[in-house]
Amino acid sequence: MNFQLSEEHQQLREMVRDFAENEVAPTAKERDEEARFDREIWDKMAELGLTGIPWPEEYGGAGFDYLAYVIAVEELSRVCASTGVTLSAHTSLAGWPVYKFGTEEQKQKYLRPMAEGKKIGAYCLTEPGSGSDAGAMKTTAVLDGNEYVINGSKIFITNGGIADIYIVFALTNPEEKTRGVSAFIVESSFPGFQVGKKEDKMGIRSSPTAEIIFDNCRVPKENLLGEEGQGFKIAMQTLDGGRNGIAAQAVGIAQGALDAAVEYAKNREQFGKPIAANQGVSFKLADMATAVEASRLLTYQAAWLESNGLPYGKASAMAKLMAGDTAMKVTTDAVQIFGGYGYTKEYPVERFMRDAKITQIYEGTQEIQRVVISRMLLK
Ligand code: CAA
Repeated sequence: MNFQLSEEHQQLREMVRDFAENEVAPTAKERDEEARFDREIWDKMAELGLTGIPWPEEYGGAGFDYLAYVIAVEELSRVCASTGVTLSAHTSLAGWPVYKFGTEEQKQKYLRPMAEGKKIGAYCLTEPGSGSDAGAMKTTAVLDGNEYVINGSKIFITNGGIADIYIVFALTNPEEKTRGVSAFIVESSFPGFQVGKKEDKMGIRSSPTAEIIFDNCRVPKENLLGEEGQGFKIAMQTLDGGRNGIAAQAVGIAQGALDAAVEYAKNREQFGKPIAANQGVSFKLADMATAVEASRLLTYQAAWLESNGLPYGKASAMAKLMAGDTAMKVTTDAVQIFGGYGYTKEYPVERFMRDAKITQIYEGTQEIQRVVISRMLLK
């Protein structure tokens, strides 16, 4: 067993940290306030090869592994969780299903431009009436000649409106319920594709979240991903890995808050000494650092399992459960250490706290992670 990152992984971490601190962090506060996505940052990430880390070079990727990918999401999220999730949804939720289930033509046509960062990807599963109960979706896809006609609406779509390529789940056979779901690759330029309401959110404000409406949206037959009826399994398997991307985002947020709290505790003086000299503060920091490390280990383990072709669904759900709760606790404690200053927008910890909350909700709530983990334990 070896817990040390390889030289390549360490180099990647340094490169992404440098980029995050110099190119992402300076505008993170302002983008949060304005709820503004910055395409220029994305284009720079593409130039660095971050938009296709785990995909083979033949599909425009960097030919690296899932550990490298989660390290990148972590480092971006350490300064800006919005940038972290833009990359995570693009890679895990849109790139992965095309890589895993796409035909050679689909990979060249869709995975390559996504890996190269020329196109952004998104994943459309959730609907107004089906969140945790993903199988209760209502969106339909009916074959009409050489095209499927999709009708319905999807909500809370990360990268909604900025993405060019959407992985969409719809019922081709409603009577069969989850076995009647199929997956489609939908371009934003297809007729009948519409971007609906953009959400005004508590956190990850510079990551756009929007409703996507399919109004007789016509999708060529060859854009069916996998086989008819295989869609629910594609959706679930996609989330198995995607959840680890969110775990990485949560680890990054928690690390960012911990770093800020350590610095503040060393420099802030009260009662004639740094507040870190009080065990009430230093023990809190010790607990925060321990939880961050445990979350990181679970996240890296899940990524290592996936990179080595071993089962990773349970590990990924555990990582997301642990890291999401850690992010919420550590960011809340960081605000507490900062006291009144932490409650203001002068310091980043209030943003970290707002950003942390979503990691307990999306890609399956913490309650759904427990459903996934316990079902695997008990089966
Ligand atoms: N891998 C492969 N197949 C799977 C699977 C998996 N991980 N999980 C389930 N399946 C299969 C089952 O084997 C079953 O197959 P058969 O019909 O052949 O038996 C089928 O799928 C149905 O499974 P279940 O009966 O277990 O389905 P269920 O209705 O009980 O739901 C659930 C299971 C785990 C609760 C699921 O609905 C779920 O994960 N819900 C949460 C949804 C979610 O995470 N949404 C997040 C949206 S995306 C997002 O948040 C993105 C973002 O913004 C960044």
